[in-house]
Amino acid sequence: MPGLVIVGAQWGDEGKGKVVDLIAEQADAVIRFQGGNNAGHTIVRDGETFKFHLIPSGILYPGKHCVIGNGVVVDPKVLIGEIDGLRKQGIDLTGLKVSANAHLIMPYHLLLDQAGEARLGKREIGTTKRGIGPAYADKASRLGIRVQDMLDEKILRQKIAAAMEPKAPLLREFVKDPSIDLHQMTEDYRAFGDRLAPYIADTPPIAWKALDAGRLVVLEGAQGALLDIDHGTYPFVTSSNTVAGAACGGAGIGPGSIDEVWGVAKAYSTRVGSGPFPTELHDAMGERIRDAGGEYGTTTGRPRRCGWLDLVALKYAVRINGLTGLVLTKLDVLTGIGPLPVATGYTGPEGARFESFPYHQSVLHRARGELVELAGWDEDISGARTVDDLPASARDYIDFIEDQLGIPVVTIGVGPGREQIIWTKAADGLRQIAA
Ligand code: GDP
Ligand code: IMO
Ligand code: MG
Repeated sequence: MPGLVIVGAQWGDEGKGKVVDLIAEQADAVIRFQGGNNAGHTIVRDGETFKFHLIPSGILYPGKHCVIGNGVVVDPKVLIGEIDGLRKQGIDLTGLKVSANAHLIMPYHLLLDQAGEARLGKREIGTTKRGIGPAYADKASRLGIRVQDMLDEKILRQKIAAAMEPKAPLLREFVKDPSIDLHQMTEDYRAFGDRLAPYIADTPPIAWKALDAGRLVVLEGAQGALLDIDHGTYPFVTSSNTVAGAACGGAGIGPGSIDEVWGVAKAYSTRVGSGPFPTELHDAMGERIRDAGGEYGTTTGRPRRCGWLDLVALKYAVRINGLTGLVLTKLDVLTGIGPLPVATGYTGPEGARFESFPYHQSVLHRARGELVELAGWDEDISGARTVDDLPASARDYIDFIEDQLGIPVVTIGVGPGREQIIWTKAADGLRQIAA
């Protein structure tokens, strides 16, 4: 002990990468436990920007154990690209390990993801088209190919053939695509296996050892609570459980090893892709927030949909994750906007009111945030380093969030840089254990 899970509390891109990087300094290991290269986690260090899709956000500390856990779906080509890119930047990768049991994203998964979206037309999910859904579907169907399979040509070929067979009708339109030729794929994935062999490992013991020694283990989530396959706005979700509970299965540890669960949330809301978004702004204010916050997807470059802070959805995220602390990011983006509306309820069809997150899809699609207005501030807060450095109305905004959610804010982000953060007293406990 202790284990700290850090998860997205909204629709992804909340700023998980930055806080994981910061806390990783004190950790023995950082473990990604779900998702794949649909994720894009940004760290800005000394003015240099790093974007990670598969590699855990602790990699900037030389020798730090950084684990891609069994719950992740791995596109080996993307992983090798990321490794090569970091090497060129002079980053030490000796601590990187990838679980032998993690499932692989195959070329046919990419094609099926694209074809599935095309088939849905206007009803598309707006996936990242990285093959995530089809790869997790194969895992659940027991037709998945795992990282360890890349090390044995015979097994690899057999498994690829077995996985392709039931997909033949769906892949018919791609028969001439060389990327899904059985021999080519076997050769390519064998070569990826050779490249990745030094990193492939039995990864849960890395976590067990650190936990047994009383060292901090950070479990890094991808996506966010409202994109969870069970608890999110299904079917407009990703294909894995993104909530904190998934950290155990995806890393190979038990719930008793988790001491703290931090949820990361922006001081407003964004979503990329389709689906319900009760506080979405379709006007100039939405564009203003998009510009001020640089709200364009890290993975796909798509403009993110922007809206006010949604405390109904956040309260739900507190419950489904068991959050013990809130990492509030991008407060600086709201500077100069006032008053600041936040949703504390929803209005649904026929004037129905909701104070908690409605489960019913038809309600959710038509729910609109019921807004209360809080005071804004005009002072530049990007240099604030303590809560007392913040203007009174910014402190009130944070107090209101804490009151509504019933959990403390542990950090406040006031800019993308590593140093642009305020640690509150609520974070002291964990920081002391970790030190
Ligand atoms: P993640 O997927 O949750 O790791 O988040 P992303 O990296 O996709 O998107 C978050 C973006 O916000 C990145 O560009 C970060 O550099 C940036 N960011 C993180 N925290 C802050 C903050 O407190 N203020 C501002 N202005 N930007 C931030
Ligand atoms: P990070 O970890 C924001 C969204 C996609 C789409 C839905 C399904 O950077 O926060 P998928 O490709 O997973 O099948 O797409 O999920 N999505 C994300 N949105 N941040 C992410 O990751 C996301 N990963 C997937 O836009 O709506
Ligand atoms: Mg992101």
